Amino acid sequence: MIKFENVRFGYHETDVINNVSFNIPKNKYTCIVGHNGSGKSTIAKLIMGLENCRSGKIFVDGIEVNDSNLDVIREKIGIVFQNPDNQFIATTVEDDIAFTLENACVPQHQMQKIIEEYATKVGMQQYLKHDPEKLSGGQKQRVALASVLVGSSEAIIFDEATSMLDPEGKQEINQLITELKHNRTIISITHDMEELLNADYVIVLEKGVVVMEGTPDVIFSDIEKLQQLRLRLPFVLQVILEAKLKNFNVNNTMRIEEVVEVLCRSV
Ligand SMILES: Nc1ncnc2c1ncn2[C@@H]1O[C@H](COP(=O)(O)OP(=O)(O)O)[C@@H](O)[C@H]1O
Ligand SMILES: [Mg+2]
Repeated sequence: MIKFENVRFGYHETDVINNVSFNIPKNKYTCIVGHNGSGKSTIAKLIMGLENCRSGKIFVDGIEVNDSNLDVIREKIGIVFQNPDNQFIATTVEDDIAFTLENACVPQHQMQKIIEEYATKVGMQQYLKHDPEKLSGGQKQRVALASVLVGSSEAIIFDEATSMLDPEGKQEINQLITELKHNRTIISITHDMEELLNADYVIVLEKGVVVMEGTPDVIFSDIEKLQQLRLRLPFVLQVILEAKLKNFNVNNTMRIEEVVEVLCRSV
């Protein structure tokens, strides 16, 4: 769905995206992970054509991203930005969601039902008449999500889209994102390593360079490298490592339930 070919970009003289190449598969759930400042949001901006690369090429569904085809690109890809403040167009929650529907040419008489359905999905049905600017950070993220989910874009980029939610809210929204993953390309930008367990494909960025790329199994098979990169392992892997040290018969691809079973069996 998205292809980077030797892309370089910098805000000033120095490059913050340094000769980056990768492929994001279509209709899969891809996580882009890396520490703060590694260039994740910049990659999202380059995909959306909000910044132009210095050299290299970016393709969205086979179309090269450049100033003359931004309309087509933005029709194909929706984005929930890291900072939800720059995201709202309307002065009420319902109008903001309606704006996406209008762009997708949904007939007026069908809108109210869809707006209510999606506001309910993100838990904001009580706030339809509220001004999105006056909501809390987490509520803003929920509205931004509804406004993007309701559209018909083939791909959606979530840039740390649940960072302002509490753990329960995070889980709820991640569940919603997972439900979508069968018929859309989902790109989740995150520094939460737990999220990688749900991904089909993972790209690891470090200081503007792709340092690892592959399925979660491939990524988690190189624990040394993850530790070198100072990336915290998902909880289940931490347990597996400890269990291995104590000679339990576990391996890196086990789910937490399987690990628990092995541990319990030997008590
Ligand atoms: N608008 C900007 N102007 C100048 N430098 C920026 C700007 N946005 C990001 N940067 C710098 O670019 C690098 C990558 O930032 P960013 O893509 O936001 O990383 P991430 O999303 O992984 O935290 C960082 O060093 C950051 O300080
Ligand atoms: Mg960012």
